[in-house]
Amino acid sequence: MSETSAATPAAQPGQQSSQVTARRGAAHDSVFLRAARFEPVPYTPVWFMRQAGRSLPEYLKVREGIPMLESCMRPELVKEITLQPVRRHGVDAAIFFSDIVVPLKAVGIDVDIKPGVGPVIADPIRSFDDLQRLRPLEPDDMPYIAEAVGLLVDELGTTPLIGFAGAPFTLASYLIEGGPSRTYENTKAMMYGEPELWAALVDRLAQITSAFLKIQIEAGASAIQLFDSWAGALAPDEYRRSVLPASSKVFDAVAPYGVPRIHFGVNTGELLGLMGQAGADIVGVDWRVPLHLAAERVGPGKGLQGNLDPAVLFAPTRVVETKAREVLHAAQAIGDSGHIFNLGHGVMPSMDPDALTRLVAFVHEASAR
Ligand code: CP3
Repeated sequence: MSETSAATPAAQPGQQSSQVTARRGAAHDSVFLRAARFEPVPYTPVWFMRQAGRSLPEYLKVREGIPMLESCMRPELVKEITLQPVRRHGVDAAIFFSDIVVPLKAVGIDVDIKPGVGPVIADPIRSFDDLQRLRPLEPDDMPYIAEAVGLLVDELGTTPLIGFAGAPFTLASYLIEGGPSRTYENTKAMMYGEPELWAALVDRLAQITSAFLKIQIEAGASAIQLFDSWAGALAPDEYRRSVLPASSKVFDAVAPYGVPRIHFGVNTGELLGLMGQAGADIVGVDWRVPLHLAAERVGPGKGLQGNLDPAVLFAPTRVVETKAREVLHAAQAIGDSGHIFNLGHGVMPSMDPDALTRLVAFVHEASAR
């Protein structure tokens, strides 16, 4: 676990009210947070990326007629959607219902989330002039976030809330491409061809991401996850040179709060060591690398999160259980603690929610010690 770094001036955890500290304190001894601190746990904690969302009929019902980004700005709705998978599945942590592009919208970027597509940016950022449109994020830009987090931690009690944000590379890829991409050609063209512009862009994004995370932590989130979902598109040397410094800035900015920091990306088998070095306490692993190998790549002193292939959930229950047991077994490489069970990527909309509920119970039971 990271030590408080007095040298980081950006964060001012001393400004948190004691009320917030007390609220976060209710979850302090939860199995999730104990595992994240490498303390002994009675069983392996489990939550799912994208656990709130279209796999749940109750989600589809409350979201009816409300566009995705608008729903993220309604605190009561955010509270309800965040709580739905906690109630239904009995997962060990809630993840805040929002999106990685919400802070971009908050600083005035024209972004929309198109159903079945993802974030779409009206005017991509491809020059120093364009970069002027990406101003720093202030807490007043998104009052609805602190409000929703506050409502949630009160309601969650001893269940921890995970805050999150998109990492600079993944956000940059949407801003530069204008939407989802398979090749990241414009992103890489800037990264390789205009390194000064690239550095300025990811530096600005590091500020925005740090500010977004701080708002969530100061309002009571107990842990954070930095999603660099698409960083797996990069070779290790390029990641080290062009991405790691900006992501490190984000981890440094939130270090003084002392909350566990998780770092995740898809297809990042070759980057796991570097993603840990960027400043994470726990490295999220997709399903392509077994956890005992991930442990070697990440090195000692860090936890692991993952990593059941989400598609396994479409197979019969006995297969799901065999595969889940394999994940628990591979995780023993890091000892009895420091492992948080998750899927290797998000829950898919077509998944049977009952299969997820059964998986939570199975992980708890099979890992009981
Ligand atoms: O339950 C949770 O995980 C919390 C909420 C959450 C959402 N997005 C809600 C959402 C989280 C943590 C995210 C993060 C996010 N958003 C990432 C990183 C995680 C990952 O999957 O790698 C990325 C890359 C995005 C960008 C984004 N937003 C995509 C690719 C999509 C999917 C587009 C689609 O329709 O398939 C979104 C939209 C989105 N964000 C949805 C949800 C529940 C679906 C939209 C809807 O329900 O209408």
